[in-house]
Amino acid sequence: MAVTEDQVRAALRGVTDTELGTDIVDAGLVRSLSVSAGGDVHVVVSLLAPGSPAASHYERDIRERVGALAGVADLAVSFDLLSAEEKRAVSARGKRAAPPEGALAKVRNVICVGSGKGGVGKSTLTANLAAALVAEGKTAAALDADVWGYSIPRMLGVHGKPKVSENKRILPLVVHGGIKAMSIEFFLEGRDQAVVWRGPMLHKAIRQFLEDVEWGELDYLLIDLPPGTGDVSMTLAQLLPQSRFVIVTTPQPAAQQVAKRAAETARRFDLEIAGVIENMSGFVTPTGERYTIFGEGGGQTLSDELDVPLLGKIPLQEELRVSADNGTPLVLEDPDAPASQALFHAARGLIAATPQQLAVLQPAARPDIAPPSGVALPMAQ
Ligand SMILES: Nc1ncnc2c1ncn2[C@@H]1O[C@H](COP(=O)(O)OP(=O)(O)OP(=O)(O)O)[C@@H](O)[C@H]1O
Ligand SMILES: [Mg+2]
Repeated sequence: MAVTEDQVRAALRGVTDTELGTDIVDAGLVRSLSVSAGGDVHVVVSLLAPGSPAASHYERDIRERVGALAGVADLAVSFDLLSAEEKRAVSARGKRAAPPEGALAKVRNVICVGSGKGGVGKSTLTANLAAALVAEGKTAAALDADVWGYSIPRMLGVHGKPKVSENKRILPLVVHGGIKAMSIEFFLEGRDQAVVWRGPMLHKAIRQFLEDVEWGELDYLLIDLPPGTGDVSMTLAQLLPQSRFVIVTTPQPAAQQVAKRAAETARRFDLEIAGVIENMSGFVTPTGERYTIFGEGGGQTLSDELDVPLLGKIPLQEELRVSADNGTPLVLEDPDAPASQALFHAARGLIAATPQQLAVLQPAARPDIAPPSGVALPMAQ
């Protein structure tokens, strides 16, 4: 006997959307379902965003669940896109609550420092740019969005347990004359404790960092992204559609290609790219000889391709690594060092590239990219 439409629908209820935290039938994502007399099944699922990584997860799950039903002769899965109005309806059906306003109300610019590729210097640049911005008279904070490979506390030399304010907001730690810092490390018992978190928990953690931390008045909230592209950008896009990206690359074509993909992901979620920083661009010996260890030109090529400014080219300098290991950003320890000079240049470029400094950010809901609810950080109260 051929499978029935009801049986297929019941099987589809087993396919959950991790971002909405509900199944695709309840979420209203099943656009159409047809079952022929001979048992040919065709399911059309609507995606929230073009190129959504959820598509492959849906397809796999649908094939597994519907394919297991008796009487399925053939199974076709295809996708279309929700309209803006449908997205709003879907998000209303999802379990997500609207983000509370307030925690970021006085933050003027949110800048995500990302690269796609690991180890190119995102964290080092984030820590030093925060310090350089403060030295330039701005208020700045560094948020460590790398919950696995957190490194901001070590690089800024800031450790400890944040206090909770009267209105139950978490107070960032403050270091080096005013840099505010926040990291998952502050909430772990042992400093070397491994954090093994799955996607939904990650969304929740980032969300709590943005919504439950008393950031106060800030010109710049710099967000140190983990390597890779997807998850975190999506959460940020949803919570802070006004946030911008600084893309870090090395001069190498390989790194530049990966960085380009990170930029494309950001743009897919309508996040603006403020500029590119090339890191590890050459090594200058004490006698002034320059070696282009990681090649040349990647930053310029990438900024041309993305049509955004090249904010700076930071040379390889051992002192930059040593100072990061010791917890004092090089721009503070030795402002005249070549890498510091390049970092100050990049910080000033960033200031120039973010002119709307008085436009106060408000967390605005992007119902089309909704993170899940229900997992609490160890920090809550
Ligand atoms: N220009 C530089 N000169 C010398 N050392 C550097 C430079 N940039 C980064 N480093 C060092 O390289 C190492 C990797 O840098 P960092 O941790 O900032 O990279 P990342 O992109 O944040 O890595 P991950 O992807 O793992 O988060 C660090 O030890 C850092 O101090
Ligand atoms: Mg890092």
